[in-house]
This record gives sequence, structure tokens and C-alpha cells, in this order.
Amino acid sequence: MSQIGEYITARSPRARWKRVDTAQILKRFFFCERSLIISMSAWLPLIESIDIKTALPRLIWQNAQTANALRERVFELRFPNRTEEEEGPDRALVALFDQVKDSPSVPAFLLALGKTLLPALHDAYDEYLATSDFIADGPTHRFLKFALNEKSEQIRSLQRWADAALAASPNDRDGASRWDVAMSARIAALGGMGVDLSTAQPEATPVSGSRPYAIPEKPARDPRFWPCRFYWPDIVDANFPYGEGMKLQLRSAISHLNEVWAVETGGIILSSLSHELPWEWINNAARWTYDEARHCQMGFERLTEWEIDPARVPLGTYIYDSAAGQDPIHRLGMLYFFETKNIRNKSVRAGLFHTYGDQLSEHDMDFDWADETIHAGYGKHWLGELLRVRGEDPAQSENVRARCGELVKACVATATPEEIEAITRVANSLIAEMGRAA
Ligand SMILES: [Fe+2]
Ligand SMILES: [Fe+2]
Repeated sequence: MSQIGEYITARSPRARWKRVDTAQILKRFFFCERSLIISMSAWLPLIESIDIKTALPRLIWQNAQTANALRERVFELRFPNRTEEEEGPDRALVALFDQVKDSPSVPAFLLALGKTLLPALHDAYDEYLATSDFIADGPTHRFLKFALNEKSEQIRSLQRWADAALAASPNDRDGASRWDVAMSARIAALGGMGVDLSTAQPEATPVSGSRPYAIPEKPARDPRFWPCRFYWPDIVDANFPYGEGMKLQLRSAISHLNEVWAVETGGIILSSLSHELPWEWINNAARWTYDEARHCQMGFERLTEWEIDPARVPLGTYIYDSAAGQDPIHRLGMLYFFETKNIRNKSVRAGLFHTYGDQLSEHDMDFDWADETIHAGYGKHWLGELLRVRGEDPAQSENVRARCGELVKACVATATPEEIEAITRVANSLIAEMGRAA
């Protein structure tokens, strides 16, 4: 008897998804993560609370780490090259995720993230891990398990932040919950995030209640601080010394806190240049923004440690203002300008703090210095790349940097005598208070 035509048939659940199916699902996860990274970054200047403004970048960075691992895995699975950089049949779902950028208010934005979009990713990762093959797709399991844990933590944070934002702005309550319900219904109507293989769907129309996103002219500022444009007298008064000893300790903490502008700038350039630059840009800018948020937290923590009332601490806007209305290349240039301008001071100051016995300032400044060295590289590389993709000469990046210096100078020149008098009064009173404490 011939054995031709006899086979062992195997229908193990392990074999549910083939290699290309797996890649298609992972690609969907990548594009949804990418979409959230862009929207979360774009919203940083609109968030008032400094706690949320500096905590959100950690989530942006975590999601960039996950997205990068997903993207690498899709490459490994040799998904057909042509569609690697396109959403393919998941276009409608990703376009719906994109719409959270057009949230009508801060509470609405935080609520939709925490109640609908992040849970959609969380549940999809959970289901993927339960269903996919631990043997054939083992490399995905390692990082996706980690991402799942992070998503649970992110959802808890977002829900807490949404509650805090609603408490600060109760008039937005109804609009925010309507927005979240509308987003959630639209995702459900598309069949959810899920782990099923997708079929192309018509592109999403705007979710009701949306408000088109625009980069804010003025950044939102935490009302607990003393609001101003120029956050220390030496910015507007060449005769006011940067200071030594206790004055330098205070000045450095104020500088770190005021790196809030760099957090907002990182967020704006990540999102607004994401259409011109490749994924690696988003990945680098996510880390950049997260680092600046950590520098801002360092300053806030030190001032808190010294028991200084935030109401007496100046929180400025002048560097953000200097690039307002400019092409985002100048916001990228602004970060690069300040990174390279200040970097040599950092290790010197860390050394001085060591001689003062101020271990905390020394520690913060030393870690900051290491981050800034990475950032100077990002600035140089991406300014050149941006000019190149725009068909301009990459060597022009020094001109962009110089133009940023001029923009800042022009903004500083608009300081009024009243502003100079007020910041000098606030700074001198802080210095006197610190002197008494010391
Ligand atoms: Fe920084
Ligand atoms: Fe930096």
C-alpha cells in the first residue's frame, strides 16, 4: 500500500498565527504605541501641573522602548519590506488613536488615555501573550511581558492624573467623559484593538467633541510657582552675579526646575517633526524629553528638600517664548543651543558642590552632565538630518544654532523695568531666606 497521501495533521493552538500574521499584529502594536508617543509629547506644554508634566515623559520613553522592540521584531520576522513603514490594514485604527491629539481639554486627554487607549493596548498585549507561541515567538514574549506590566502602572498613573486635572478644572468634567465615551465607542466600532488579523476599514472621521491641536503660544504653568518670563535676574541684568557658594546652589536648583521649557520643547519637536524624520528621531527625542523632565524634577526636589515655598520660586517662559511662532527647526536648535552653551559648566559646578559638601547638588549635576553629552549629539545629528531631508545643506545647522541665540537675545531685550525689578526682588528675598537657613 502506498504511503503517499498520508500525513500527520497537527492543530495545536501554538500554530494559530503564522510568521507573517504575527508580524502584522506586532506592527499594529508598534503604530498604536507610536501614535500615543506623538500625542503625549504634543500635549506636554498644555499641562499645568509640574508633577504630571514631568512624569508623563517617563511613560513616553517607556512606550518608545516598547515600540522600538516591536519594530525590531517585525524586521526579524521579515515582514514584506514594502509595508514596514506603513500602517497597512490598521490605518483606520491608528488614525483613531491619532485623534486623541485633538482632545478638547487636558482632563479629556488624560481620561481618554487612561480609560480607553492604554487599556486597549494593555488588553491586547495580555491576549497576545496568552495566545501566541512561547517557543517560536519567544523573543516577543520577553519584552511584551515587561510592556504589559508598564501599561498597568501607566493606567493607574493616568487615572490618578485625570482625577487631579478634573479637580483643578471641574467645568471640563462632562466634556471629558463625553470625549472618552466617544473614543471608546469608536474603537469598539472598529472591532477593538484586539489580536485578530485586520482587514482594511474606511478612514476614521473626527470623533465628536474634538478640537484641532495647535502648539500653544504660551506654555501652561503650575499655579503654585511665582510666574514670570525671566526666572533669574542674571538673565536680564549683566551686573547680577550668577553667584558662588549658597547662591550657586540656589541658582542651579532654579535652573534645573526651569528646564521645564526643555521638556515642553522636546515634546513639541518630537511630535511636529515626526512626519519629516524617521522612527529613530522619535526614539531619540523620547529619551531627550524624559531626560529633561528628570532634570526639572531634580531642581524641584532640591528646592523642596530645602523647604522653600513654591510660591516664592520663579518659573519662567522666556526660552519657550523665544521660539514661539517659529518653524520647529528653531525649537530643535534652541535645545541644541542651550545644551552646547552650558555643558562645560556642569562638571565644574559638580566639582564645586563636592567641595561644599552638598552631595545632592553634586549628584544631580553629574548625572545631568552625562545626559547633556548625549543630547549635544542628538542636536547635532538631527539638525543635520532635518536640513538634509528638506533639501538644504546640513552644514547650515550652525546657522540655525546662531539664529536661536539671536531669538533669545531679542526676547531678553523685551524685558521691562518692572519685570527686572520684580525678579530681582524675588531672587534677593530667596537668597536672604537661604542665607538665614544656612
Ligand atoms: Fe537638561
Ligand atoms: Fe539636555
